Amino acid sequence: MLVRVKGMNDRLPSESKKWAALENKLRGIFKIFNYEEIKTPLLEYSDVFHRKSEQSDMVTKETYDFKDRSDRDLTLRPEGTAGIVRSYIENKLYVDPEAKKFFYMGPFYRYERPQKGRYREFHQFGVEVFGNNNPLIDAEVITLGYEIIKSLGLKDVSVNINSLGDQVSRTNYKNALIEHLTPYKDDLCEDCLRRLEKNPLRVLDCKVDGNKDFVLNAPKSLDFLTLESKSRFELVKIYLEAANVKFNVLKTLVRGLDYYADTVFEIESAIEGFGAGNILGGGGCYHSLVKELGGPNVTGFGFGFGMERIISALDAQGINLEKIDFLQTFVLYLGEQSTVKAVELLRKIRESGISSDIAYNAINFKSQLRQAVKSEAKFLIIVGEDEIKEKKVAIKDSKTMEQIIVDEDKLISYLKENL
Ligand code: HAM
Repeated sequence: MLVRVKGMNDRLPSESKKWAALENKLRGIFKIFNYEEIKTPLLEYSDVFHRKSEQSDMVTKETYDFKDRSDRDLTLRPEGTAGIVRSYIENKLYVDPEAKKFFYMGPFYRYERPQKGRYREFHQFGVEVFGNNNPLIDAEVITLGYEIIKSLGLKDVSVNINSLGDQVSRTNYKNALIEHLTPYKDDLCEDCLRRLEKNPLRVLDCKVDGNKDFVLNAPKSLDFLTLESKSRFELVKIYLEAANVKFNVLKTLVRGLDYYADTVFEIESAIEGFGAGNILGGGGCYHSLVKELGGPNVTGFGFGFGMERIISALDAQGINLEKIDFLQTFVLYLGEQSTVKAVELLRKIRESGISSDIAYNAINFKSQLRQAVKSEAKFLIIVGEDEIKEKKVAIKDSKTMEQIIVDEDKLISYLKENL
């Protein structure tokens, strides 16, 4: 038997309905915040992700890299930001002086060890905003993440924020980290030993060393901020308070990617049994990524949320989003002779733009009814010999099981008024 690729999931129709409801809800919120959708390819030239400045595990160890038939180096996108930056530059979207606000949803690929909440193909929704390094943008994007989680009805979630500081702050912090970690060289894993000199920040979120005491006690970035970064972070907090966002400053938050500077944030769920999935999403500010990929000197701020994790958080808390693509009607027929009439009604209903279905394999009326109920259609339309003679149809509300008889030519108008 052929099976799906390890770490990748099929999404069956019963699950798809939840996803459609989630996507619909998200689109509504993005509209309210005035974000526009951007879609970039799943495949990019490897250079988009494999940059000298990006030495995170995600890029050095977890990408799906391969050559196409013309020997080009390609990478399946492990995250959204770099591809969107590439598109922003290539399409010269920066010529407009207004801040650009994009949202996206889609699949991403990371060769990680699969477990609950961590897959090799997973989905994110995210946003990226390009502008002039105004902390208002930081606050707006964090507010958006917070509002999304709140409007989904998720409870027991917290917003954690921190600042890594600008280039100067980061250099000072990096030196302090090297100084602190060097005496513990012998206790570091092989990867961290390599990271120590060039990229000690990545020691802090290493899966092997991250929880060792000397790493937990390492200096914190907040203590190394330049005056400018400090006041920038103060403004972010003031704006967040004005936007009524409840947040905590988490000094240990560093995020797992190297492009971040100044504000970073994560939204964490305290739902039990979540394991690797307890971070629902996160993001932050990046000052040099656009320039590094060949664009102008603009700052970006964005976030990404794991959609599988959001769906399991909703499931864990028993939250049902309003389904948008429910079936509206189901046609049932009593007796062989009514089949032709049923097919005719099915066509008329569908032609009017109302969704409808019929049982194809039904042995008898009872099994038709079983299928109709399972389909969760709002109205069951029933025809039998008597109704045909009188040019009438029966309409049963599947919730209340109340039934009324209407003239066949009034069926569509009745449905339109009552659906
Ligand atoms: P990230 O933290 O690497 O950030 O991923 C964002 C979210 O994607 C995570 O919090 C998690 O919910 C989900 N996620 C990541 N890996 C997996 C996985 N293997 N399986 C399931 N879910 C996963 C980024 O990707 C940045 N691009 C976010 C960003 C946008 N920063 C600025 N702009």
